[in-house]
Amino acid sequence: MTEATTTAEIPIRSAEESGVSKEQTIDPWSVDAGQDAEGNSLEFDYVAISKKWNTSLIDEALLERFEKVTGHKPHRWLRRGLFFSHRDFNRILDLHEKGETFFLYTGRGPSSGSMHIGHTIPFEFTKWLQDVFDVPCVIMLTDDEKALFKEDLTFEAVLQFAMDNAKDIISVGFDQKKTFIYSDLKYVAGHMLMNAWEFSKLLTFNQVRGAFGFNESTNCGRIFFPTVQCVAAFGTSYPALWSDNPGEERNPDVAAMQCLIPMAIDQDPYFRLLRDNAHRMARPSPKPALIHSRFLTALQGVGGKMSASNPNSAIFMSDTPGQIKKKINNHAFSGGRETLEMHRELGGNPDVDVPFQYLSYFEDDDEKLKKLEAEYRAGTLTSGEMKKECVTLLQAYVEGYQTRRKAVTDDVLAEYMRPRKMEWSRSDTIFKPEKSKGKKGKKVRSKS
Ligand code: TRP
Repeated sequence: MTEATTTAEIPIRSAEESGVSKEQTIDPWSVDAGQDAEGNSLEFDYVAISKKWNTSLIDEALLERFEKVTGHKPHRWLRRGLFFSHRDFNRILDLHEKGETFFLYTGRGPSSGSMHIGHTIPFEFTKWLQDVFDVPCVIMLTDDEKALFKEDLTFEAVLQFAMDNAKDIISVGFDQKKTFIYSDLKYVAGHMLMNAWEFSKLLTFNQVRGAFGFNESTNCGRIFFPTVQCVAAFGTSYPALWSDNPGEERNPDVAAMQCLIPMAIDQDPYFRLLRDNAHRMARPSPKPALIHSRFLTALQGVGGKMSASNPNSAIFMSDTPGQIKKKINNHAFSGGRETLEMHRELGGNPDVDVPFQYLSYFEDDDEKLKKLEAEYRAGTLTSGEMKKECVTLLQAYVEGYQTRRKAVTDDVLAEYMRPRKMEWSRSDTIFKPEKSKGKKGKKVRSKS
């Protein structure tokens, strides 16, 4: 963020200030913080990645416009810069202002059966956007991707993870009437597969290698996969969602529907390929708008990323209240001083304190958060007290989630995963009568 919104905003430090000796690497398959000369992990440098990839930082002006257009206060993750960057988010606000619609698309690579709080954040945020704008949402589970990129995972195993994860995602609270969740292994066929082939014809190996760093020994599934993740942003990949009438899906307005993709910043390389080529499809689509989040800090502290394969790096959505307490007390990096006396005298550092960071993700009350921060710096609030606040909040968050999870039966799951017509308030605006008149002339597939 270019301007501070609250004092509790998650700090950004530039590379120069931090004294980098090893650069950070961020791509869809590996995320590593940089290191200083002594080999200590540094914080991720989000300003640097935004500059390098030429995204726009979310600033006060955008948030003000958001509030004006939607009538909603920006989510705390926008206010506090957890979602910090975007491409063309203003286009979404323009559409909404004009009474038009768009659709949301997000996804998850199901690499394990259980999700942690870091995984739920993009989904919580997407659900919030769905509520604010009242729009349909498609959620892609890239089981194909995980099997292709992890040597030890079979296709059968990832498909099962996808089903388990889908139940977790439903528990976030997506509105069934306007949410479609799918496993690539099960759904990608018909129109979506044809889109993927068409899109693959627009991309050279050089371009895909440029975006992802593949080489001649990369298996060819990995080289093709990006097209699948990209074409999920085309309305034409989901004919059943927009109409009961099988002929109507050829209506060019479906291709013209704008898409907004919330994601963690590491997914951006996919969607640069998409934005560069969406208009080249026989039925052209607009460049999708993107909104990017940072990574959630691991329990161990700055520079770390929560990992499903390290149970002590994260709070899992299946953790018991006792486990949450234990993890925060024993594994969360503290910005407190070595002794209580020193803490009282010198004060703690909330910027690196993981319990405080987690409070800043989940405590909605800005005033309360500011107070905790100020008291911690002053040394009047101890790190034990900060941990306690954090434990209480996370226990409540996970418990609410687990209650909803219990209600997600196999039948509920099947309904969310059934391609069916989405119901939302502006659905009629995608089939504009004046445009469908020009239907015939417009969408001839080019020969070459
Ligand atoms: N590749 C992503 C992952 O491994 C999953 C994904 C697919 C996704 N489509 C997306 C994530 C769109 C964000 C937005 O997690």
